[in-house]
Amino acid sequence: MPVRPVTAQTLLEMKRAGRAITALTAYDYPTARLVDQAGIDLILVGDSVGMTVLGYESTLPVTMDEMLHHTRAVARGVKRAFLVADMPFGSYHASTDEALRNATRFIKESGAHAVKIEGGERRADLVRRMTDAEISVVAHIGLTPQSIHRMSGYHVQGRSMEAMESLYADAAALQDAGAVAIVLEGIPREVAAEVTARCAIPTIGIGAGPDCDGQILVFHDLFSLTFAPPAKFVRRYADAATFFGSALERYRTDVTSRTFPADAESYHLSREVAAQVKTLGVHPDEGVAAEDLAQSEILDDPLEEFRKLVPTGRG
Ligand code: KIV
Repeated sequence: MPVRPVTAQTLLEMKRAGRAITALTAYDYPTARLVDQAGIDLILVGDSVGMTVLGYESTLPVTMDEMLHHTRAVARGVKRAFLVADMPFGSYHASTDEALRNATRFIKESGAHAVKIEGGERRADLVRRMTDAEISVVAHIGLTPQSIHRMSGYHVQGRSMEAMESLYADAAALQDAGAVAIVLEGIPREVAAEVTARCAIPTIGIGAGPDCDGQILVFHDLFSLTFAPPAKFVRRYADAATFFGSALERYRTDVTSRTFPADAESYHLSREVAAQVKTLGVHPDEGVAAEDLAQSEILDDPLEEFRKLVPTGRG
């Protein structure tokens, strides 16, 4: 069945039809394939890759090269979803020209369909310039992890009347500037509902309650792969850490007890070659690396090749 790719227009139509948009992060080829095949509408290569995959303390150290590398891998696994690449901290802050150059790289070199940038009204001009340059932009407001130091930590935003108003102004400015969607992170449910009602473009929530047009989670949160207690808004759908842990333990036990690999998991010489080897008086495995034996199975004249491998003067 040919797949109909999700576009920014699809997301807009989903909002208008009241159909919930599903979104999830992915950072590599196999997870991108799984997420895409599960029918998730939007895949974000988030700069959360810094914490979930690269082991950084925050998203701040993530570089353009790292983001491009992961986005390319994800793009190779995506057939249907709308693919959004997160612009890392510092890649769109110094100047508009540099931001445009970096955003262009995501579209041109990594296969992303859109870029995501953090920040409200103060990013509106940049969103307009990117949109003018044919680059679709997903905006991100509320708790913006790249502002961790300015916000003095990861705190829920938009709790005061003033902060609420400023979020409404942010959303309006970003929409006017051409953003195709807005991620709302870490804000009260009531505020997210109001932003969603006021916006013509879709809102995608994370820690923003159920009234957004869509929901996004971090892949590793969903699968309990973060090695830390989850935030309040995370629902864990599987315990992959336990699943992987027990498989790894069994693997280690099988190797140490020499029950892996079994004979059925080993390559063999053909009966004919094994018989000829026997007449040479050399045990087939003696002095020959397993890899080389495996190679000998696919060579034109395995016995000849085997003779070359067997050290001279033996047998
Ligand atoms: O980097 C990320 O994963 C994100 C999501 C939390 C929206 O920005």
